[in-house]
Amino acid sequence: MSKKICVIGTGYVGLIASVGLSDFGNEIIGVDIDKKKIEMLNNGISPIYEPGVERYLKRNLESGRLQFSTDIDKTIQDSEVVFIAVGTPPKDNGEADLSFVESVVKSIAKNLNSYKVIVTKSTVPVGTNRWIKKKINEFAPGKEFDVVSNPEFLREGKATQDFFHPDRTVIGYESERAKEVMFEVYRALNLITVPFVWCSLETAELIKYASNAFLATKITFINQMANLAETVGADINTIAKTMGMDGRISPKFLHPGPGYGGSCFPKDTMAVVQTGDKFGVDMSLISAVIEANDRQKDRMVAKLEKIVGSFKGKTIAVLGLAFKAETDDIRDTPAFNIVEGILQKGGKIHAHDPQAMDNFEKIYPQIQYCHSEFDALKGADAMVLVTEWNEYRNLNLRKAKELMKGSIILDTRNLLDPELAEERGFTYEGVGKG
Ligand code: UDX
Repeated sequence: MSKKICVIGTGYVGLIASVGLSDFGNEIIGVDIDKKKIEMLNNGISPIYEPGVERYLKRNLESGRLQFSTDIDKTIQDSEVVFIAVGTPPKDNGEADLSFVESVVKSIAKNLNSYKVIVTKSTVPVGTNRWIKKKINEFAPGKEFDVVSNPEFLREGKATQDFFHPDRTVIGYESERAKEVMFEVYRALNLITVPFVWCSLETAELIKYASNAFLATKITFINQMANLAETVGADINTIAKTMGMDGRISPKFLHPGPGYGGSCFPKDTMAVVQTGDKFGVDMSLISAVIEANDRQKDRMVAKLEKIVGSFKGKTIAVLGLAFKAETDDIRDTPAFNIVEGILQKGGKIHAHDPQAMDNFEKIYPQIQYCHSEFDALKGADAMVLVTEWNEYRNLNLRKAKELMKGSIILDTRNLLDPELAEERGFTYEGVGKG
C-alpha cells in the first residue's frame, strides 16, 4: 500500500527523493522554507540542473501524487513517514553541522499527532539517528514513532538513474513495524529485486561514510600513481585500465584528474576523521587522502605555471568550472584552486562551462565568462580543461588553434588525444602521461 510521505528539504537529495518516491506510487509533499524554490517546484521547474529531473517532476505533479509546500507543521501532521533531507554542511573543524537536522527534529516532535516513521536521508555522523530518537523522546514524551537510517548514494548528474536503479538500498532500523513501513515505501524497488540491506542504525550510518571514504581513497590512489607515472615516463591510462582488469580492483573510479570535489567526498572524508578523533580511533589513512587531494588540486596550477612560464599578462582559457560533468554544482570544485592560482599570479581568465557559470560568477565576478568554449579560447595563451564535459572531449582542435594566441593545453582529465593535439600544433600536457 502506498504511503503518505513528507520529505523535508528540497536540495539535491530531497528533490530526487520526492520525485522518485512519488514515481513509486507514494503520495509525497516536499517541504522547504525557501518560498521561491517551492513556487518553482510546484510549477514543474527544477532549481538545480540535473538530467531527467524535470521530466519526473512534471509527471508526478500532474498525477497529483507530488506537491511542494512551506507548511512544515501541517505536512508532518498529515504524513505517516517523514524523510529528513536537509543539508549537513561541514563546520570549520570538519564536523558535520547538524543544526538544520535539529530544527527539523523539533518540528517533527511538535507535530507527532500519530505514529510516524522518521527516516534520515541526509548523511549524518554515526550516532545521529540515536540522538534524534532521544531528542524526540525528550520533546514529545510517550509519543509513538520509529527512527530509520536510509542513506542516499546518488551521484549528481546521474541522480534519477541512481534513484530508480540503485546498486543497493540500505535501511537501518530497530522495530518490525518500521521495517514493514519501509518495505511498502520501497515496494517498487523490491519488485525489481534491488538488494536490501537491513541493519542497525549505526551500521547504516557508517556504510555511507565508509563507501564515500573508500571511493575518495581510490581516486586519490590513482592520482598519486598518475603523478608517479608522469615523473618516471609511464602511462597512467594503461596502468589504470590494466589494474581494472583485476576483478578485485574494478575499473571504476580509477580516472586520474585534478582531485575530487563536490558536495560529498570532501565533507564526508572530513566527517570520518572527526568521528575517529571523537572516539579515539586512528583514521590517518583518510586524513592522508584529504591532504593528498588538496595537494592534487594545487598541483594542477603548478603544472600549468611550469609550461606557461609566468602567468603575468597571460590569458588562460579555463574550460569547465563544475566539480564534474552533467552538473551545475561548483562545491569544492578543483576549478577554484586553478582560477585562484592564476589570478593570484597576475593571469587573466576566460572561463566557460555549459551549466555552472552562473554559480561560479557569484564567487568570482572578476573573471570573463564566455558563451562558448571557442569564445573562451579567443586570444588565449593556454587552455586548461577542468571538467569532463562531452563537448570538450570532441573539441575542434583545428579551430581552437586558429583562435588561440598560444598553443598550450593542460588537460587535467585526459580528455583529448595527445597525438592529435600535437599534430594540430599544440604543446599538450595531460595527467600521468610521462
Ligand atoms: C558521490 C558518490 O559517488 C555518491 O554515491 C554519494 O551519494 C555522493 O558523493 P558525486 O559527488 O555526485 O557522488 O560525484 P562522483 O561521480 O562520485 O564524483 C566525485 C568526485 O570524484 C568528482 O570530483 C569527480 O570528478 C571525481 N572523480 C570520480 C575522479 O576524479 N575520478 C574518478 O575516477 C571518479
